[in-house]
Amino acid sequence: MILYNKGTGEYQNFLITEDCFDEYNLGKTETIMCQGNGYMCIRGAAEENYPKKTANTFIAGTFNKGPGYEPTELPNTADTFSMEIIIDGKRFFLTEDNVIDYDKTLNLKTGELTRTFKYQTKDNLISFEFTRFVSADNLHLAAQRVKITPLNKDAQIVIISGIDSKTTNSGEAHFIDDTRRFFEKRFIFTKLTTTQSKIDFFINAAHRIFLDDVEDHTLPQPLMNRREAFQKYSFDISVGSTLTIEKYITYYTSIDNKNVACEDNEKSYLILKDIMGEGYEALLKESIAALDTKLWSRDAITIRSKNEFDQLAINYAMYHLFAMTPAHDPRMNIGAKGLSGEGYKGHAFWDTEVFLLPRYIVQNPEVAKSLIEYRYHGLEGARKKAKENGFEGAMFPWEAANPEDGEVTPIYGGMDVYTGERERIKTGFIEIHITSDVAFGVYSYFNFTGDQEFMDNYGYEILLETASFWSSRLETSKEDDLLHITNVIGPDEYTEHIDDNAYTNYLAKWNMDYAVKCYNDIKANRPEVYARLAKKIGLTDEMMATIAERASKVYIPVPGEDLIIDQDTTYRALEEIDLTKYRNNVMGILKDYNLDQISKFKVSKQADIMVLFLLFGENWSNEIKAANFNYYEPYCLHDSSLSFSTHCILANDIGNTTYSYELFKKATTIDLGQDMKACDAGVHAASYGGIWQCVINGFAGLRMIGTDLHFNPRLPEEIQGITFNMIYKGQTLKAKIEKEEITLTNLGEETVTVFVKGEEVTLQNGLNITR
Ligand code: BGC
Repeated sequence: MILYNKGTGEYQNFLITEDCFDEYNLGKTETIMCQGNGYMCIRGAAEENYPKKTANTFIAGTFNKGPGYEPTELPNTADTFSMEIIIDGKRFFLTEDNVIDYDKTLNLKTGELTRTFKYQTKDNLISFEFTRFVSADNLHLAAQRVKITPLNKDAQIVIISGIDSKTTNSGEAHFIDDTRRFFEKRFIFTKLTTTQSKIDFFINAAHRIFLDDVEDHTLPQPLMNRREAFQKYSFDISVGSTLTIEKYITYYTSIDNKNVACEDNEKSYLILKDIMGEGYEALLKESIAALDTKLWSRDAITIRSKNEFDQLAINYAMYHLFAMTPAHDPRMNIGAKGLSGEGYKGHAFWDTEVFLLPRYIVQNPEVAKSLIEYRYHGLEGARKKAKENGFEGAMFPWEAANPEDGEVTPIYGGMDVYTGERERIKTGFIEIHITSDVAFGVYSYFNFTGDQEFMDNYGYEILLETASFWSSRLETSKEDDLLHITNVIGPDEYTEHIDDNAYTNYLAKWNMDYAVKCYNDIKANRPEVYARLAKKIGLTDEMMATIAERASKVYIPVPGEDLIIDQDTTYRALEEIDLTKYRNNVMGILKDYNLDQISKFKVSKQADIMVLFLLFGENWSNEIKAANFNYYEPYCLHDSSLSFSTHCILANDIGNTTYSYELFKKATTIDLGQDMKACDAGVHAASYGGIWQCVINGFAGLRMIGTDLHFNPRLPEEIQGITFNMIYKGQTLKAKIEKEEITLTNLGEETVTVFVKGEEVTLQNGLNITR
């Protein structure tokens, strides 16, 4: 069982705990208790081995492609937290019957994972305390401490620990075992190189041993086996005495950017030697302080709710968003499973722009900029994809890895259980709305931050190239004089090969219109930028006139008499089936039907038109939104973790606060809840951005309308208040949203204008306004 309420004092709503050992469901806490710093992330797997343990370690951006059908993915690199513990000649591992007082807790505030219990052997009782962290201060560093105390009688304890390079991604081995060696008899070094991308990993580990409080300098016995560099320690420990093993670990790679690189990776063990002198506690303190500076003291969100769990859920989401975001390097982005599991291969999707970016745009624009810069670096791959498909401009990949690679969506997924044929994955070919989602990310970043330099260097080029793609992608029709987009997958992935998906068409038109506006602006006002871009991407007035003209002809479905907007041309006529049994059973429908069959039913996997209302809500009345919500939501199975949050915000917009809060609860329990199998393959990253959106864009009512910041809060009955900081147009604003009152404080130097419940308000430096 997962408990949320063990934290008290400064840790209230910061602890998540597993209170009994559950060998059948190891994946749950491995995922939700993974620890990371954006550079690397290590799953919360037990130190000792179990057949189904998945102890992944991922380093952001280190993609490698396997042979043949094997995809490009983040390779699971050497495992360093695992260790073998042998007590009186028997290997230590837990069963439900030999463990007493088990507690595994991740402290979100400190980033430390703790596991304590008593282990019952045939004739002894041994107390264990495992703790570990991945440093928020030094991005390369992880450290671990194990304390073992025999409670009934003396025990002989053997520890085998080091660097285990036998790791694979579900059997796919991504590394050449290059070098393994020991330095100064204590330091373990391993160099691995990825098989195709040829990225070198330099991994170091070393131990410090204490008998009670006295450091023991006995040299370990080296053990070098195939893909293993271990050290063996043996001790006779008297009853009541404590053996402490501290392990210090660093990971470097040959693609580290200069902010985080060490000069000579082969000698990186010397850095470890220096670091470990500080000791576990001091390094942990530095990590806690850095986590506080980078996350909690700058971006923490306070929710005063009748349900304490709401506060825990946002803390949990914020911690994991920090752990998964490679804020240090603009060549990297956020994977759909963060860095927490093999799922989705570490690839970035539209999840970034629509679900994850808002948290960063509003609260930490530097990180948002880095995530969008990644898309800029991806223009090369996007141009390649457009060309390969016979289009102009930049067609962004549905799934992205190295930015320059272009499309990396695997072409084949699982195999048909009956025919043995590989199932073709179509999203990489026809889920094309990602291109305008990327453009939308640029637009929202610019509107919120006003970062003109970013637009000049990166933003305009993305907007113009994406518009150019859409212009070339539009199709004429025999039926009318309009331009259409056929054979796509919209956000709702249960309807494949559809025509004129409202979301896709609307965003394509918006992308083109906005690019034309930007073109006119830069041509008139920013001659240097215009000249550079004109030269680089061959901009001409004729080309832009064509884009403008074609944009004006895009078919955009409008609300019918019943106010419903067609999701696509066929959705409303699809066959209705009884969905009751699938509504609370994630992916349950896929057990009864295959995707071709599901495509023929009136059923949605996730929010589709609702996302349109979320991004451009100002363009439709609440009456229209309500009619569409009430029409589409009953057909939606919320089989994607991206769905609840959008529906929560829309339900709130249309005044259905009770249902909105219910959907919020569902969004918060996608991974955190008691479904022990929900997240074996990794966290649902976008759902954490979704939780943030429910609180800030939904309940607190922060929205951008064009370039204006609006607050129209609508707190559900359970929530009394929300407090958060943001950086709007370079100024830090503090917002305190309460049932009867909104207080905004400008902590910046310059005056900004915002809209509170429709009223324009000027916020001067250092001043509060209350409405
Ligand atoms: C969803 C997509 C999402 C992807 C990665 C899929 O199940 O349908 O919308 O981008 O997961 O999170």
